Amino acid sequence: MNDKPRSPSTRARATQPAGLLQRLWRLSRGRRLRQVTGNFVWQAFARHSMVGAVAPSSRRLAHAMALAARGADLVVELGAGTGAVTAALVEVHGMRPLVAVEIDARWADRLRRRFPGIDVRCTSADEMLTQMAPPASQVVVLVSSLPFRSLPPHWHQRTCAAIERFLLADPRRRLVQYTYQPRAPFETSAASPLAWRCRRAVWHNLPPAWVWELGAAPA
Ligand SMILES: C[S@@+](CC[C@H](N)C(=O)[O-])C[C@H]1O[C@@H](n2cnc3c(N)ncnc32)[C@H](O)[C@@H]1O
Repeated sequence: MNDKPRSPSTRARATQPAGLLQRLWRLSRGRRLRQVTGNFVWQAFARHSMVGAVAPSSRRLAHAMALAARGADLVVELGAGTGAVTAALVEVHGMRPLVAVEIDARWADRLRRRFPGIDVRCTSADEMLTQMAPPASQVVVLVSSLPFRSLPPHWHQRTCAAIERFLLADPRRRLVQYTYQPRAPFETSAASPLAWRCRRAVWHNLPPAWVWELGAAPA
């Protein structure tokens, strides 16, 4: 780790998009991480609407998402991708039950190899949520990287509807989701008793992100 003080101009450069890209590349020192990042960028072009990002989540964003899920008995990660958030969930929540859901078969396989102790499901988020029947005693928190702003309309509609149904079945459930704009990830249906709360901004991400929570509105 380089602890040398940095000049203001160096700091300013590091927050420019090109500077952030360079930093991200330098941070991905290991060959494996470089491969993962390269593969992600390729997927981001090839399946833009389903991936909806230009780079994997940064460690800071992943950690902020994992912290926002504290208090869960069971965490269900939606759109686990390269496993950046999965790794932070394991770090923060230890051996607590975690299910990682990923629609892309190659990424699901990689997740299984990287996290042999985790229940990885290669399916769509809405299928998973419709079929899940956790014990009534368990507080379930959904931690999602799903790209709601770019999902095709059909996927957007069925995924949002399944999430709302899942959350409404138990007022203790909540969804943790990030966005790349300071506005709510998606609109809930009219008259929904659920409400969005913006938890924090994470500047060290490409691009900067906002962490949101959707759950029962305060009485
Ligand atoms: C923004 S990327 C993943 C970001 C992840 N945090 C990372 O750093 O790798 C979104 C992921 O959601 C997956 N995805 C998109 N739609 C999905 C759906 N309906 N169900 C499950 N996964 C989905 C994509 O295949 C992609 O891996």
